[in-house]
Amino acid sequence: MRRSYVMLGLAISWILVMVGSVNAIGANWGTQTSHPLSPSKVVRMLRDNGFQKVKLFDAEDATLNALRKTNIEVMVGIPNELLRSLATSMKAAENWVAKNVSGYVSDGVNIRYVAVGNEPFLSSFNGSFLQTTFPALQNIQSALIKAGLGNQVKVTCPLNADVYQSPSGQPSDGDFRSDIRDLMLTIVKFLSDNGAPFTVNIYPFISLYSDANFPVDYAFFDGTSSAVVDGGATYNNMFDANHDTLIWALKKNGFENLPIIIGEIGWPTDGDVNANLQSAQKFNQGFMKHISTGQGTPMRAGPINAYLFSLIDEDQKSIQPGNFERHWGLFYYDGQPKYQLSLGRNSGIVGAQGVQYLDKKWCVMKNSVSLDDSKVAPSVSYACANADCTSLGYKTSCGGLDARGNISYAFNSYYQMNDQDDQACGFNNLATITNKDPSMGSCRFQIGILVEDSAVSLRVSFLLVVTVVSFLLILM
Ligand SMILES: *[C@@H]1O[C@H](CO)[C@@H](O)[C@H](O)[C@H]1NC(C)=O
Ligand SMILES: *[C@@H]1O[C@H](CO)[C@@H](O)[C@H](O)[C@H]1NC(C)=O
Ligand SMILES: *[C@@H]1O[C@H](CO)[C@@H](O)[C@H](O)[C@H]1NC(C)=O
Repeated sequence: MRRSYVMLGLAISWILVMVGSVNAIGANWGTQTSHPLSPSKVVRMLRDNGFQKVKLFDAEDATLNALRKTNIEVMVGIPNELLRSLATSMKAAENWVAKNVSGYVSDGVNIRYVAVGNEPFLSSFNGSFLQTTFPALQNIQSALIKAGLGNQVKVTCPLNADVYQSPSGQPSDGDFRSDIRDLMLTIVKFLSDNGAPFTVNIYPFISLYSDANFPVDYAFFDGTSSAVVDGGATYNNMFDANHDTLIWALKKNGFENLPIIIGEIGWPTDGDVNANLQSAQKFNQGFMKHISTGQGTPMRAGPINAYLFSLIDEDQKSIQPGNFERHWGLFYYDGQPKYQLSLGRNSGIVGAQGVQYLDKKWCVMKNSVSLDDSKVAPSVSYACANADCTSLGYKTSCGGLDARGNISYAFNSYYQMNDQDDQACGFNNLATITNKDPSMGSCRFQIGILVEDSAVSLRVSFLLVVTVVSFLLILM
């Protein structure tokens, strides 16, 4: 009798584990924003949307504190700029682990991975981090072991898919990029020896962006007229083919079974002709459906472990890769969903709760000002350089505006960025404040949000505790 209950219990937990392993999807939480939502609001969003894993690019105190006792699995990141000191000093690595891992783990943050660097071998970094990444990885691993966290917390190094390639385009011809092949094999062996996963970021959007001849339908998951046939396997989407190019590279070098994490995958919604709500919805929903079967890819059966890129738009990201870079979020800057998406549960995604907006007012170009006014061009340049004009341009969300609309958009972006300060709607008297929403069609003229200072609220709750305690003491 008892035994059958135990068996039933085991069966139920097994089913839960299986369901969990198929459906558990992670999110990348970046913080390069001028007006971040408070960490507690973002953590609430993660939970409300069923994200069980989060990947961070840093070890910010407020962020990690908000993740305490949530049970959300955390991958905490080390920015590339820190690699040199961590590579050259074991003491620095130990301090980093003590401050940024051990302390939080004992406080109930479920840290499972440390991401050492972020795409450090990207070609555009010109080899800046080639010497420091592996020694930093080694030192952090030693520091984790020394801190008694060797089993619980694994190191990894999120790499761009440009670390491997296939000259023929067939996955079976895959191998690591020749200029870094030896280094990659050293890293792969190290990860394997330490039971750590290989983390790779795969971006069909970038392939489409950088190659005019890339077959559009091959970037998505709905079938393609450009399938890649590779021996017995047929690839109908770039994700599978790219993933399996990595599996072949690993297999050829004796690491066929190394666990893989998809560190970033997603599609931007603005800033490029291929970046829009429909395509992003199609890609992300297609990906979720693809991994929900739990079948894996032709070269590796089983669940795919992935983190969507990304949670919320980041208006301070460098646009060196392209204007789309600030628009990868599933959610806008204010935590509201951009489109409907099912993450494997019954409901669609839900936005942040309790976001406080500034007043319903916008800064626009005065009707009386002529387009030929010589002050217009420098004012627009100034606004765009200091705010965000990445939604202006060919086939972007505000690409349909006329010249006056363009100028107003730039002015308003600067005005909201500066928290609706009257001075920020000056522009040599070219601009004025209006209560009439200038948004039209797909083009949204934003309203800024109020930034909650978490330090302030901490101070307030501390004061409250002190007051209550002193009150109790007086009573005694
Ligand atoms: C912990 O991480 C933060 C954020 O990346 C970094 O600024 C800080 O230097 C780290 N602390 C130590 C002791 O290395
Ligand atoms: C890499 O080199 C290019 C061309 O020399 C330069 O424009 C770019 O700033 C360099 N990037 C880094 C990260 O050093
Ligand atoms: C609006 O601004 C964008 C980006 O600066 C530019 O490409 C476009 O030509 C402008 N449109 C008009 C009508 O001026």
